[in-house]
Amino acid sequence: MDGAALMHGAVGRRAFIQRAGWVGLGAFGVIGHGGPLGLGAIRPAEAAADVREILLETRQVKWELSPGRSITAMAYNGRVPGPEIRVKEGERLRVVLKNSLGEPTTIHWHGVDVPNSMDGVPGITQKPVPPGGTFVYEFEARPAGTRWYHTHFQEHRQMDLGLVAPLIIEPAGTEPFPFDREYTLVLDDWATGAGRALPATREGTAGGRGEMGGMMGGMMGGGMMGRGMGGMMGGGHHSTPAYDTMTINGKAYPATEPLRVRKGERARLRLINASADHTHVIRLAGHQLRVTHTDGNPLVEAVAVDAVPIAPSERYDVLVNADRPGSWWLYCAQPGHAAAGEQALLVYDGREGRRPDAVKEGTAGLHLWHYSLGQGRDVLAPASGTVRSFSQTLSGGMMGSDAWTINGKQYPSTDPIAVNRGERARVRLGNMSMEAHPMHLHGQSFAVLSVNGQRLAHPLVKDSVDVEAHMGAVDIEFTAHNPGDWFFHCHKPMHMEGGMIALVKIAG
Ligand code: C2O
Ligand code: CU
Repeated sequence: MDGAALMHGAVGRRAFIQRAGWVGLGAFGVIGHGGPLGLGAIRPAEAAADVREILLETRQVKWELSPGRSITAMAYNGRVPGPEIRVKEGERLRVVLKNSLGEPTTIHWHGVDVPNSMDGVPGITQKPVPPGGTFVYEFEARPAGTRWYHTHFQEHRQMDLGLVAPLIIEPAGTEPFPFDREYTLVLDDWATGAGRALPATREGTAGGRGEMGGMMGGMMGGGMMGRGMGGMMGGGHHSTPAYDTMTINGKAYPATEPLRVRKGERARLRLINASADHTHVIRLAGHQLRVTHTDGNPLVEAVAVDAVPIAPSERYDVLVNADRPGSWWLYCAQPGHAAAGEQALLVYDGREGRRPDAVKEGTAGLHLWHYSLGQGRDVLAPASGTVRSFSQTLSGGMMGSDAWTINGKQYPSTDPIAVNRGERARVRLGNMSMEAHPMHLHGQSFAVLSVNGQRLAHPLVKDSVDVEAHMGAVDIEFTAHNPGDWFFHCHKPMHMEGGMIALVKIAG
């Protein structure tokens, strides 16, 4: 499949993902360094044929973002992003993590309804996996959709260095939006120390009301400058890194892989924003994007737009009707992002060598995706009756501070959302701060009931929702069907580490 080939270069994904058993593990010999991988926990007898077993090794690598720009990264199986894992909905997945970093790590399965003990949150659901240690994650892969996995240990450092990867769960039933070929595109921001720093996304765009983040950030003195000064003057605060490079699948243009299509085809793009600090506004010149899934969950029908803003940790699946032969830029319209590497060619067969029209920055005049445009399907687990309501005010970051709060408190002092299994929980999120917060719930997806006071007739199903800066408001609702203690937090690691986390405690 072309998408997989793009992700993994010359080596097909089958080389990374094998059917269970020692045969499969043998294929991973290539990643081992000097000796056995300490897989004593796995006995061949357990490696039944209906379990898909995958070995992931975390270690430091030198990674070339673009010619002449290499960094010391942290990688799963030597690549950035890590290998795409692809399974069928309901299939049992066993991932053996071998930590060859010089520091602890864990893996979180973002958007997957895993049992609590497999959720990868250190101190809550497991102990961190020490250097040289192993941990076995095992769960049934569901629900279907574009999911992802990433470290949940010191995210700000480890995610920024590359410990992110796609997890694609193919539907067990029929695919609601058929396509001819697909590409998975992981978007990421990097602070390499070389190149001009890009302003942080402040406003958020996903609700459809905000200005372009880059513009606003620029007006406010530049994310870098403003925050950098705050950090310096605050003594002991760490400032936002100077993000200067933007990548698609671990590469900045001109190193990005071109996408190929044939005239008449329908191509599916799975867009995953693994960035720490930036909303990307993805556009394909000459074409509309038809949004079919929000965070992996299908809409009732596709929504045609010119560009799709994607907040950190969000995913959108879009279809492209390949009806304009030529060579076109797929790129981010946020000011400066394409120039910082976030552009790739989409080339029709037979149109190689065509010069594409130049990238156009900004979103003026474009029809942008926002939450109220989509109609979600009612796929949440049925509830037993009781509805409990909670309200969370998000604030912090005042005067360059790195403290971020929920109802005035920083985690672990934040008030938990306590519910019983089977109940419905409604959470009203209000943003009193100057930055958008993409809030993510572990363990189950939620419905987005309303955005900035506007009720959605058909709530979207998501696991991350961007709450816009300056009084942005979002109401969500979920069925507490997965017992355990779950993180609910802002997916900007700076904000999360600054305290913007609450626990959702589901008594089983
Ligand atoms: Cu994408 Cu707490 O995670
Ligand atoms: Cu935040």
